[in-house]
Amino acid sequence: MTQNHLAFPDWLSVRAQHVEHVLDDFLPAADVLPARLHEAMRYAVLGGGKRVRAALVYAAGQAVPVSGSAVAVNASLDHAAAAVELIHAYSLVHDDLPCMDDDTLRRGRPTTHVQFDEATAMLAGDALQPLAFELLARMPIAPALVGQAVQVLGRAAGSLGMAGGQAIDLLSVGTVLARDELQTMHSMKTGAMLAASVALGGIVAGASSQARQALDGYAQAVGLAFQVVDDILDVTADSAALGKTPGKDADDNKPTYVSLLGLEGARAFAGELRQTALQALGPLGDSSARLAQLADFIVLRDR
Ligand code: IPE
Ligand code: IPE
Ligand code: MG
Ligand code: MG
Ligand code: MG
Repeated sequence: MTQNHLAFPDWLSVRAQHVEHVLDDFLPAADVLPARLHEAMRYAVLGGGKRVRAALVYAAGQAVPVSGSAVAVNASLDHAAAAVELIHAYSLVHDDLPCMDDDTLRRGRPTTHVQFDEATAMLAGDALQPLAFELLARMPIAPALVGQAVQVLGRAAGSLGMAGGQAIDLLSVGTVLARDELQTMHSMKTGAMLAASVALGGIVAGASSQARQALDGYAQAVGLAFQVVDDILDVTADSAALGKTPGKDADDNKPTYVSLLGLEGARAFAGELRQTALQALGPLGDSSARLAQLADFIVLRDR
Protein backbone atom coordinates (compact mmCIF):
# COMPACT_ATOMS: atom_id res chain seq x y z
CA MET A 1 0.00 0.00 0.00
CA THR A 2 2.76 2.47 0.84
CA GLN A 3 4.79 1.47 -2.26
CA ASN A 4 7.95 2.82 -0.66
CA HIS A 5 10.15 1.14 -3.24
CA LEU A 6 8.75 3.14 -6.17
CA ALA A 7 10.52 6.13 -7.71
CA PHE A 8 8.44 9.25 -7.16
CA PRO A 9 6.97 9.55 -10.69
CA ASP A 10 5.83 5.92 -10.53
CA TRP A 11 4.42 6.35 -7.04
CA LEU A 12 2.47 9.44 -8.17
CA SER A 13 1.14 7.63 -11.20
CA VAL A 14 0.09 4.59 -9.13
CA ARG A 15 -1.69 6.87 -6.63
CA ALA A 16 -3.36 8.80 -9.48
CA GLN A 17 -4.62 5.59 -11.09
CA HIS A 18 -5.79 4.31 -7.74
CA VAL A 19 -7.83 7.41 -6.90
CA GLU A 20 -9.23 7.38 -10.43
CA HIS A 21 -10.69 3.91 -9.73
CA VAL A 22 -12.01 5.04 -6.36
CA LEU A 23 -13.69 8.07 -7.97
CA ASP A 24 -15.08 5.91 -10.75
CA ASP A 25 -16.65 3.62 -8.13
CA PHE A 26 -18.10 6.43 -6.02
CA LEU A 27 -19.58 8.51 -8.86
CA PRO A 28 -23.05 7.41 -9.98
CA ALA A 29 -22.94 5.58 -13.34
CA ALA A 30 -23.60 7.64 -16.45
CA ASP A 31 -26.91 5.86 -17.12
CA VAL A 32 -28.36 6.59 -13.66
CA LEU A 33 -31.03 9.29 -13.85
CA PRO A 34 -30.59 12.18 -14.37
CA ALA A 35 -28.16 10.71 -16.89
CA ARG A 36 -26.95 13.98 -18.41
CA LEU A 37 -26.01 15.33 -14.97
CA HIS A 38 -24.14 12.15 -14.05
CA GLU A 39 -22.41 12.14 -17.42
CA ALA A 40 -21.25 15.71 -16.81
CA MET A 41 -20.07 14.91 -13.26
CA ARG A 42 -18.04 11.96 -14.55
CA TYR A 43 -16.68 14.05 -17.43
CA ALA A 44 -15.52 16.75 -15.01
CA VAL A 45 -13.87 14.36 -12.56
CA LEU A 46 -12.50 11.39 -14.50
CA GLY A 47 -9.80 11.01 -17.12
CA GLY A 48 -7.29 13.69 -16.30
CA GLY A 49 -5.66 15.87 -13.72
CA LYS A 50 -2.41 15.46 -11.87
CA ARG A 51 -4.21 14.25 -8.71
CA VAL A 52 -1.82 16.26 -6.54
CA ARG A 53 -4.45 16.77 -3.84
CA ALA A 54 -5.19 13.05 -3.60
CA ALA A 55 -1.45 12.33 -3.50
CA LEU A 56 -1.09 14.80 -0.62
CA VAL A 57 -3.78 12.93 1.34
CA TYR A 58 -1.97 9.61 0.88
CA ALA A 59 1.49 11.07 1.54
CA ALA A 60 0.34 12.81 4.73
CA GLY A 61 -1.37 9.59 5.83
CA GLN A 62 1.89 7.71 5.56
CA ALA A 63 3.96 10.48 7.17
CA VAL A 64 2.64 9.72 10.66
CA PRO A 65 2.43 6.48 12.66
CA VAL A 66 -0.99 5.00 11.97
CA SER A 67 -3.24 4.59 14.97
CA GLY A 68 -6.07 2.08 14.62
CA SER A 69 -6.82 -0.55 11.98
CA ALA A 70 -4.66 -0.18 8.87
CA VAL A 71 -7.49 -1.49 6.69
CA ALA A 72 -9.92 1.12 8.01
CA VAL A 73 -7.32 3.88 7.69
CA ASN A 74 -6.51 2.91 4.10
CA ALA A 75 -10.19 2.80 3.14
CA SER A 76 -10.70 6.19 4.79
CA LEU A 77 -7.67 7.67 2.99
CA ASP A 78 -9.38 6.62 -0.26
CA HIS A 79 -12.57 8.42 0.78
CA ALA A 80 -10.64 11.55 1.76
CA ALA A 81 -8.51 11.51 -1.41
CA ALA A 82 -11.63 11.17 -3.54
CA ALA A 83 -13.38 13.90 -1.54
CA VAL A 84 -10.67 16.52 -2.17
CA GLU A 85 -10.55 15.63 -5.86
CA LEU A 86 -14.36 16.02 -6.08
CA ILE A 87 -14.28 19.48 -4.52
CA HIS A 88 -11.34 20.39 -6.73
CA ALA A 89 -13.13 19.19 -9.89
CA TYR A 90 -16.23 21.17 -8.93
CA SER A 91 -14.10 24.28 -8.37
CA LEU A 92 -12.58 23.88 -11.83
CA VAL A 93 -15.98 23.45 -13.52
CA HIS A 94 -17.23 26.66 -11.91
CA ASP A 95 -13.88 28.49 -12.40
CA ASP A 96 -14.15 27.86 -16.16
CA LEU A 97 -17.73 29.15 -16.53
CA PRO A 98 -18.29 32.25 -18.67
CA CYS A 99 -19.25 34.23 -15.52
CA MET A 100 -15.84 33.45 -14.02
CA ASP A 101 -12.70 32.79 -16.13
CA ASP A 102 -14.60 31.89 -19.31
CA ASP A 103 -12.24 29.08 -20.35
CA THR A 104 -12.92 26.55 -23.09
CA LEU A 105 -10.04 24.08 -22.50
CA ARG A 106 -9.40 22.02 -19.34
CA ARG A 107 -7.26 18.91 -18.95
CA GLY A 108 -6.78 18.91 -22.71
CA ARG A 109 -10.52 18.72 -23.43
CA PRO A 110 -13.43 21.13 -23.82
CA THR A 111 -14.53 22.53 -20.45
CA THR A 112 -17.66 21.00 -18.95
CA HIS A 113 -19.97 23.88 -19.93
CA VAL A 114 -18.68 23.71 -23.51
CA GLN A 115 -19.08 19.94 -23.71
CA PHE A 116 -22.55 20.04 -22.09
CA ASP A 117 -24.13 23.43 -21.33
CA GLU A 118 -23.84 26.07 -18.62
CA ALA A 119 -26.75 24.93 -16.50
CA THR A 120 -25.55 21.32 -16.54
CA ALA A 121 -22.01 22.42 -15.65
CA MET A 122 -23.29 24.50 -12.76
CA LEU A 123 -25.39 21.61 -11.45
CA ALA A 124 -22.54 19.13 -11.92
CA GLY A 125 -20.40 21.33 -9.67
CA ASP A 126 -23.28 21.68 -7.21
CA ALA A 127 -23.66 17.89 -7.05
CA LEU A 128 -19.95 17.05 -6.79
CA GLN A 129 -19.59 19.13 -3.65
CA PRO A 130 -22.05 17.26 -1.38
CA LEU A 131 -20.77 13.92 -2.70
CA ALA A 132 -17.39 14.84 -1.21
CA PHE A 133 -18.92 15.34 2.24
CA GLU A 134 -20.93 12.15 1.92
CA LEU A 135 -17.68 10.25 1.35
CA LEU A 136 -16.08 11.80 4.42
CA ALA A 137 -19.16 10.99 6.51
CA ARG A 138 -18.84 7.34 5.41
CA MET A 139 -15.20 6.94 6.52
CA PRO A 140 -14.87 3.85 8.75
CA ILE A 141 -12.89 5.58 11.53
CA ALA A 142 -13.73 7.08 14.94
CA PRO A 143 -16.73 9.45 14.64
CA ALA A 144 -14.74 12.24 16.32
CA LEU A 145 -12.17 12.05 13.52
CA VAL A 146 -14.92 12.02 10.87
CA GLY A 147 -16.30 15.19 12.45
CA GLN A 148 -12.89 16.87 12.34
CA ALA A 149 -12.44 15.86 8.70
CA VAL A 150 -15.82 17.30 7.69
CA GLN A 151 -15.00 20.53 9.51
CA VAL A 152 -11.60 20.84 7.83
CA LEU A 153 -12.97 20.27 4.33
CA GLY A 154 -15.97 22.53 4.90
CA ARG A 155 -13.77 25.37 6.09
CA ALA A 156 -11.29 24.94 3.22
CA ALA A 157 -13.94 24.86 0.49
CA GLY A 158 -16.08 27.70 1.84
CA SER A 159 -16.11 31.49 1.99
CA LEU A 160 -13.03 31.61 4.23
CA GLY A 161 -11.18 29.29 1.85
CA MET A 162 -11.54 28.36 -1.80
CA ALA A 163 -14.89 29.99 -2.60
CA GLY A 164 -13.85 33.17 -0.76
CA GLY A 165 -10.53 33.24 -2.61
CA GLN A 166 -12.38 32.89 -5.90
CA ALA A 167 -14.59 35.84 -4.92
CA ILE A 168 -11.50 37.94 -4.20
CA ASP A 169 -10.00 36.80 -7.52
CA LEU A 170 -13.01 38.09 -9.45
CA LEU A 171 -13.13 41.35 -7.48
CA SER A 172 -9.42 41.89 -8.19
CA VAL A 173 -9.59 41.82 -11.98
CA GLY A 174 -7.93 44.95 -13.33
CA THR A 175 -6.55 46.00 -9.96
CA VAL A 176 -3.04 45.87 -8.50
CA LEU A 177 -2.92 43.94 -5.24
CA ALA A 178 -0.34 44.54 -2.53
CA ARG A 179 1.84 41.53 -1.86
CA ASP A 180 0.03 40.52 1.32
CA GLU A 181 -3.34 40.80 -0.44
CA LEU A 182 -2.14 38.60 -3.28
CA GLN A 183 -0.85 36.06 -0.79
CA THR A 184 -4.19 36.02 1.01
CA MET A 185 -6.08 35.52 -2.26
CA HIS A 186 -3.82 32.69 -3.43
CA SER A 187 -3.72 30.97 -0.04
CA MET A 188 -7.51 31.05 0.04
CA LYS A 189 -8.43 30.11 -3.52
CA THR A 190 -5.85 27.34 -3.94
CA GLY A 191 -3.75 26.92 -0.79
CA ALA A 192 -6.72 26.10 1.42
CA MET A 193 -7.69 22.96 -0.50
CA LEU A 194 -4.10 21.70 -0.67
CA ALA A 195 -3.70 22.36 3.05
CA ALA A 196 -6.96 20.52 3.73
CA SER A 197 -5.68 17.54 1.72
CA VAL A 198 -2.61 17.30 3.94
CA ALA A 199 -4.65 17.83 7.10
CA LEU A 200 -7.15 15.13 6.12
CA GLY A 201 -4.37 12.58 5.62
CA GLY A 202 -3.10 13.39 9.12
CA ILE A 203 -6.55 13.26 10.72
CA VAL A 204 -7.43 9.92 9.13
CA ALA A 205 -4.13 8.35 10.18
CA GLY A 206 -4.63 9.63 13.74
CA ALA A 207 -1.74 12.13 13.79
CA SER A 208 -0.71 13.65 17.13
CA SER A 209 -1.21 17.38 17.61
CA GLN A 210 2.56 17.86 17.19
CA ALA A 211 2.54 15.99 13.90
CA ARG A 212 -0.50 17.94 12.76
CA GLN A 213 1.37 21.18 13.43
CA ALA A 214 4.34 20.05 11.33
CA LEU A 215 1.97 18.95 8.55
CA ASP A 216 0.25 22.32 8.66
CA GLY A 217 3.51 24.27 8.31
CA TYR A 218 4.33 22.18 5.26
CA ALA A 219 0.82 22.49 3.85
CA GLN A 220 0.59 26.28 4.08
CA ALA A 221 3.84 26.62 2.14
CA VAL A 222 3.09 24.10 -0.62
CA GLY A 223 -0.48 25.37 -0.90
CA LEU A 224 0.67 28.88 -1.70
CA ALA A 225 3.55 27.59 -3.85
CA PHE A 226 1.07 25.65 -5.98
CA GLN A 227 -0.74 28.82 -7.10
CA VAL A 228 2.52 30.77 -7.53
CA VAL A 229 3.64 28.06 -9.97
CA ASP A 230 0.20 28.02 -11.62
CA ASP A 231 0.70 31.76 -12.28
CA ILE A 232 4.17 31.07 -13.72
CA LEU A 233 2.96 28.23 -15.98
CA ASP A 234 0.18 30.46 -17.34
CA VAL A 235 3.01 32.56 -18.80
CA THR A 236 5.64 29.94 -19.67
CA ALA A 237 3.83 26.72 -20.65
CA ASP A 238 2.08 25.87 -23.89
CA SER A 239 -1.46 24.58 -24.12
CA ALA A 240 -0.34 21.02 -24.98
CA ALA A 241 1.61 20.71 -21.72
CA LEU A 242 -0.90 22.65 -19.66
CA GLY A 243 -4.14 21.19 -21.03
CA LYS A 244 -5.64 24.68 -20.69
CA THR A 245 -5.32 27.95 -22.58
CA PRO A 246 -2.15 29.78 -21.48
CA GLY A 247 -1.84 33.54 -21.25
CA LYS A 248 -5.30 33.93 -19.79
CA ASP A 249 -4.21 35.74 -16.63
CA ALA A 250 -2.60 38.61 -18.53
CA ASP A 251 -5.46 38.70 -21.06
CA ASP A 252 -7.98 38.90 -18.22
CA ASN A 253 -5.94 41.45 -16.24
CA LYS A 254 -5.60 39.20 -13.20
CA PRO A 255 -3.12 40.15 -10.50
CA THR A 256 -0.63 37.25 -10.20
CA TYR A 257 2.81 36.64 -8.72
CA VAL A 258 4.24 37.11 -12.20
CA SER A 259 2.54 40.49 -12.64
CA LEU A 260 3.71 41.51 -9.15
CA LEU A 261 7.27 40.13 -9.03
CA GLY A 262 8.12 39.25 -12.65
CA LEU A 263 8.93 35.71 -13.78
CA GLU A 264 12.26 35.48 -11.99
CA GLY A 265 10.85 36.97 -8.79
CA ALA A 266 7.94 34.54 -8.82
CA ARG A 267 10.30 31.60 -9.41
CA ALA A 268 12.50 32.72 -6.54
CA PHE A 269 9.48 32.99 -4.23
CA ALA A 270 8.31 29.49 -5.21
CA GLY A 271 11.83 28.24 -4.36
CA GLU A 272 11.65 29.90 -0.94
CA LEU A 273 8.28 28.31 -0.24
CA ARG A 274 9.72 24.92 -1.20
CA GLN A 275 12.48 25.37 1.40
CA THR A 276 9.93 26.43 4.02
CA ALA A 277 7.84 23.35 3.25
CA LEU A 278 10.81 20.97 3.46
CA GLN A 279 11.99 22.49 6.74
CA ALA A 280 8.54 22.10 8.27
CA LEU A 281 8.75 18.34 7.68
CA GLY A 282 11.79 18.03 9.97
CA PRO A 283 9.94 16.69 13.04
CA LEU A 284 8.26 13.96 10.94
CA GLY A 285 11.52 12.37 9.80
CA ASP A 286 11.91 9.82 7.00
CA SER A 287 8.24 8.90 6.87
CA SER A 288 7.56 12.29 5.27
CA ALA A 289 9.71 11.50 2.19
CA ARG A 290 6.70 11.46 -0.18
CA LEU A 291 5.57 14.85 1.11
CA ALA A 292 9.06 16.21 0.43
CA GLN A 293 8.96 14.80 -3.09
CA LEU A 294 5.52 16.32 -3.61
CA ALA A 295 6.86 19.74 -2.56
CA ASP A 296 9.59 19.36 -5.19
CA PHE A 297 7.03 18.29 -7.79
CA ILE A 298 4.68 21.17 -6.99
CA VAL A 299 7.43 23.75 -7.41
CA LEU A 300 9.37 22.17 -10.30
CA ARG A 301 6.48 20.82 -12.41
CA ASP A 302 5.93 21.89 -16.00
CA ARG A 303 2.20 21.16 -16.20
C1 IPE B 1 -5.54 23.95 -11.29
O1 IPE B 1 -5.24 22.89 -10.43
C2 IPE B 1 -6.32 24.98 -10.58
C3 IPE B 1 -5.65 25.56 -9.42
C4 IPE B 1 -6.15 25.50 -8.23
C5 IPE B 1 -4.40 26.27 -9.60
P1 IPE B 1 -4.37 21.66 -10.92
O2 IPE B 1 -3.16 22.16 -11.65
O3 IPE B 1 -4.13 20.77 -9.76
O4 IPE B 1 -5.33 20.94 -11.97
P2 IPE B 1 -5.43 19.42 -12.36
O5 IPE B 1 -6.27 18.75 -11.33
O6 IPE B 1 -4.04 18.84 -12.43
O7 IPE B 1 -6.11 19.44 -13.70
C1 IPE C 1 -8.16 28.51 -9.87
O1 IPE C 1 -7.22 29.45 -10.15
C2 IPE C 1 -8.43 28.30 -8.46
C3 IPE C 1 -9.57 27.39 -8.30
C4 IPE C 1 -10.12 26.68 -9.23
C5 IPE C 1 -10.14 27.30 -7.00
P1 IPE C 1 -7.02 29.67 -11.70
O2 IPE C 1 -8.20 30.29 -12.33
O3 IPE C 1 -5.68 30.31 -11.92
O4 IPE C 1 -6.91 28.13 -12.19
P2 IPE C 1 -6.71 27.71 -13.70
O5 IPE C 1 -5.44 28.35 -14.17
O6 IPE C 1 -7.93 28.15 -14.45
O7 IPE C 1 -6.57 26.20 -13.61
MG1 MG D 1 -9.75 31.47 -11.74
MG1 MG E 1 -9.12 29.74 -14.20
MG1 MG F 1 -4.27 29.76 -13.38
